[in-house]
Amino acid sequence: MKERIEALLKEIEEYKDKKESEIEEIRVKLLGKKGEITQLFDEFRNVLPEQKREFGQKLNQLKNAAVQKIEELRNQAAESGDASSASFDITKPGDAHEVGTRHPISITREEIINIFKKLGYAVAEGPEIEDDKHVFESLNFPPEHPARDMQDTFFITPGEYEGLTEEEKAESVKEGIMGYNPILLRTHTSSIQVRTMENVKPPIRVICPGRVFRNEAISARAHCIFHQVEGLYIDKNVSFADLKQAILMFVREFFGENAQIRMRPSYFPFTEPSAEVDVSCNICGGKGCNICKGTGWLEILGCGMVDPNVLEACGIDSKEYSGFAFGMGVERIAMLKWQVKDLRLYFENDARFLKEFETCL
Ligand code: DAH
Repeated sequence: MKERIEALLKEIEEYKDKKESEIEEIRVKLLGKKGEITQLFDEFRNVLPEQKREFGQKLNQLKNAAVQKIEELRNQAAESGDASSASFDITKPGDAHEVGTRHPISITREEIINIFKKLGYAVAEGPEIEDDKHVFESLNFPPEHPARDMQDTFFITPGEYEGLTEEEKAESVKEGIMGYNPILLRTHTSSIQVRTMENVKPPIRVICPGRVFRNEAISARAHCIFHQVEGLYIDKNVSFADLKQAILMFVREFFGENAQIRMRPSYFPFTEPSAEVDVSCNICGGKGCNICKGTGWLEILGCGMVDPNVLEACGIDSKEYSGFAFGMGVERIAMLKWQVKDLRLYFENDARFLKEFETCL
């Protein structure tokens, strides 16, 4: 037995540069069910008790040497790049690699931006974590306005003084982190208007895409996270007619050249006058269907002339400059374009839904 072990050890040591098929033969010869090393292990049962220790060690050494050598030979074969020794068939056709698609919300946002870029608008962005000043105060929201309420806004630091000492109150107001200027998640992209007006001298012509947050129950028609695109145009002598022209141009580019718009008077704290814009229903062509609830019109955005109070709050002389602003929900526009009835589909990322937009890239 000793000689056989020695002989095999020597044999193993001498193996080198083998092909994959040869390596497999060697493995079967040594370690297979009827392999030589396997047989030696079987015979080990008959070894005298006083010799078991010595033979046991030797046998284990032999087995380890064999395993190691086989691994070594395999690595060598793989490295040598010999096609016949490779463990895979390089002539086989490859597995198809699935290509991802762009999200319908990204597609819609991009389309809106590109239309306004053609009109000379630049893209501006702002932080999602904002403060009261930029989301409400500078936009002419009175302090008791319901939109500041806990029910709508996700606050990061509270807007109230509850539980604070007089000293802490004063400190927090000074630091600008509490009290009059709580930190919150922006509820609309109009905050980007404010940041732009604070930092850029007119003329200003920007389009501001972004994600917004509202503390709302999730349903087919509402979500606590959604996207908006804001527009702002400030210059000398900007009029409501300019606003109407810009909106009409956008609507015709986006929904088709036969689309009509209508403006309804509305109210926003930051615009005066304000309007809501409806587009003629692209599904029934204005005749009335269940999407437009029989009216022939679909509401798509809010807009108006920037309130002089807002211009002044942002350091722009309202006697010299005027401007218009508008804001639209990307999900809503996308829903109208593709007749998606449930907003939640946009957030669930079910590949079957997303794949439907493959051709819209
Ligand atoms: N910020 C408004 C909202 O979230 C949308 C909006 C309306 C934006 C009118 C505007 C505007 O710029 O002029 O509902």
